[in-house]
Amino acid sequence: MNIAFVASECIPFSKTGGLADVIGALPPAVASLGHQVTVFLPRYKQTKLDNPRVVIPSITVPFDDRYRFCSVLDGGVRSGVQFYFIDYPPFFDRDALYGTPLGDYHDNAERFALFCRAVLESAKILGTPDLLHCHDWQTALIPILLKTLYEEDPAFANTPCVFTIHNIGYQGLFPPEILPLLMLPWDLFTMSKLEFYGKVNFLKGAITMADYITTVSRKYSQEIQTAEYGFGLEGVLRARSGTVSGILNAANYDEWDPENDRFIAAHYSAADLSGKAKCKADLLKQFGLPENTQQLVVGMVSRFAAQKGFDLILQTADRLARQELIMVVLGSGDRDYEDLFRKLTKQYPQKFAVKIAYDNPLAHKIEAGSDIFLMPSRYEPCGLNQIYSMRYGTVPVVRATGGLDDTVEQFDRQTLKGTGFKFKEHTGEALLDTLQAAMALYRSDPKAWQALMRNGMAQEYSWINSAREYVKVYERARQLRTAANG
Ligand code: ADP
Ligand code: GLC
Repeated sequence: MNIAFVASECIPFSKTGGLADVIGALPPAVASLGHQVTVFLPRYKQTKLDNPRVVIPSITVPFDDRYRFCSVLDGGVRSGVQFYFIDYPPFFDRDALYGTPLGDYHDNAERFALFCRAVLESAKILGTPDLLHCHDWQTALIPILLKTLYEEDPAFANTPCVFTIHNIGYQGLFPPEILPLLMLPWDLFTMSKLEFYGKVNFLKGAITMADYITTVSRKYSQEIQTAEYGFGLEGVLRARSGTVSGILNAANYDEWDPENDRFIAAHYSAADLSGKAKCKADLLKQFGLPENTQQLVVGMVSRFAAQKGFDLILQTADRLARQELIMVVLGSGDRDYEDLFRKLTKQYPQKFAVKIAYDNPLAHKIEAGSDIFLMPSRYEPCGLNQIYSMRYGTVPVVRATGGLDDTVEQFDRQTLKGTGFKFKEHTGEALLDTLQAAMALYRSDPKAWQALMRNGMAQEYSWINSAREYVKVYERARQLRTAANG
């Protein structure tokens, strides 16, 4: 099969979160199963390319008020995957991918509409794929365009679109006037299509129009069909429940493995854990703290967003500060959370060590140097850091939601089975109780703690298994398309 991935971020070219890790790892895994794979990405300011060749000098993207002209760059072949970049500096040559700590860029609808249209137009020139695999709201216009303006284009008659929801909290909501500006027909503005409480909702359109929908864990695929987690789209998803499934993300162990991580102070493995103490000392040093490796270190690496459960940290900050631990936090995002953590470090400098930044090497050091990795998410479609932390022998303490629930198994002291600690209620009390239970085990029973660490290190979340599941979905989408074409 010839498969084209379309996404808004991918390591090593661009990243704000786990989507970039997925797009960096899944396409090569699909290619290794014998398929031809292409990835389309925007070229941002942060995208570093070595002498890219212009493959298409000009693609016309019509907007209501003017035509815009973008080009397509050949990003070369990496791990068996061909990369193309849509280049349009007025939209993408900016300091961030989607916006600043104060909010989204005002023209995100135009930016990603241009991207989607340019992908379809370039795919026609470069060779129409057998299937398009789109990710998150930034690419939602592709299934929408395929079912509307491009419906009669013979190039795409046999090209189904699989759409993956990485996060239903981000939907691409815009005022209705965006439709004429993007030259989309007004008849899309109905409840059964893109209309959503008076606004245009790109993600809703993708959910109704893609041939098949996946999300990134089994649990989340069920959760988003309920009012508690569906962000208003639960009904639309339920209506399509026969063509919705969850495929768990995996880990790229070439990047995230303490045996060969290029960013950490010492390498270690389940057979020889001695390097982990060195990583802890190095981590404490990075934060300007005394290198006391007896200290229990709780790490967090996260986008600062409401999704991640920082309200629970806020609720319990005073009580957390009384525990025998140090919280080491790396994150950036919403201004409110950045301010919260700045305040906590000032108030409790011995207890909260915070770096407000996006810093990949430091993220690796936190995974390796912490004893516990905390993810109290309000919701979590999959979550990658808990999967990474298990490989680093860093015990995850998580809220039992979405992919966190699917990947972390509660530790049982009797049988010594399990990989971490989980709590159900989204409350500060539940977080604190669970963290205290983990800390008690760490202090009172080092043998059990090591068994727990090793259980995590033995977990294998390999992309090849997930890639096989995706290929099954691709085949199903093609059958559905053939049946629909009659
Ligand atoms: P999400 O995609 O919701 O942000 P995931 O757990 O799936 O959550 O993935 C987050 C990814 O982004 C991980 O690879 C994590 O290490 C990385 N990350 C998040 N915030 C930062 C940061 N401030 N600095 C470096 N890496 C970060
Ligand atoms: C999203 C989710 C996260 C998931 C990632 C990759 O950003 O918030 O849980 O792991 O996408 O699928």
